Amino acid sequence: AFHSMYLFQEFWCPSTLIEGVKIFHKQFQAKESDIFVASFPKSGTTWLKAITFAIVNRQSFSSIDNHPLLTSNPHQLIPFIEIMCRDDADWPSTEPRVFGTHTPLPSLPNSIMECNCKIIYICRNPFDIFVSAWIFFDNIKQESLTPLKIEEAFEMYCNGIIEFGPWWSHMVGYWKESLAKPDKVLFLKYEDLKDDANFQVKRIAEFLGFPFTQEEENNQVIESISKLCSFEEMKNLEVNKSGLLFPSVENKSFFRKGESRDWVNYFSPSMTEKLSQIMEEKFGESEMTTGRIKQYLFAI
Ligand code: A3P
Repeated sequence: AFHSMYLFQEFWCPSTLIEGVKIFHKQFQAKESDIFVASFPKSGTTWLKAITFAIVNRQSFSSIDNHPLLTSNPHQLIPFIEIMCRDDADWPSTEPRVFGTHTPLPSLPNSIMECNCKIIYICRNPFDIFVSAWIFFDNIKQESLTPLKIEEAFEMYCNGIIEFGPWWSHMVGYWKESLAKPDKVLFLKYEDLKDDANFQVKRIAEFLGFPFTQEEENNQVIESISKLCSFEEMKNLEVNKSGLLFPSVENKSFFRKGESRDWVNYFSPSMTEKLSQIMEEKFGESEMTTGRIKQYLFAI
């Protein structure tokens, strides 16, 4: 089942978040040292939050045994700013402040675009996002809503109707900004993280201004961060197997399969053809035809 949603500034905003999204958009004052983990839902937000937290706080938690990620869900350590804005929650008092956001780039507050703070965006193959989202939203459905059949959910997805959709403009918005301002926006891919987490952890740390020293590299700090944040480790932690993140959202719903190409188990040939066509339309005709996003998004 899908939440009720508002069309706000050309994207579908869940009604439960609209208030926070508006406050964020209008009032948020970014600091130079702020870091934003930005994503379309189900693209690997939880994973990138864990990695980012582990990188920027590594001096405080040099022993892995008592690391906060072992006892907190990554969304508790790096909360969604749309929810913080709404709830009058406790704001981080130490710098850098790290926030998660699903807000599309054009709707971010001006202060973020105008100051030197950093954005890391994680993108994922739209086929896998659909499967992950369909199962996730089915799990957190409210009792009053009937679950959507996969065909119904797919039809909506193809029309861009999904939380923070359309997904294509979300991806394209951050992609373009990462090309225009490579020091401001780092565009990451879930599939690349799966291929070589160590390489990406190093890249993220450098981008954020927290590069690893030679000594850290020798001591395998990069490898230990990748391992701590890996799907297998995180999924099996007690904190992520039980408990609620929000009243209707279990911690465990953020850890399902953690693989690429699980979509092949759900898509019919006609669904595959339809989504491929939509991607051709949305990404193929633009000035990104020769860009890496096309190669990436088509390399399913
Ligand atoms: P699947 O449903 O395909 O398994 P988000 O965090 O943006 O909500 O995305 C959730 C997706 O990321 C889910 O995908 C989830 O299993 C996967 N995921 C969560 N933690 C992960 C990790 N540490 N490594 C790899 N994938 C992870």
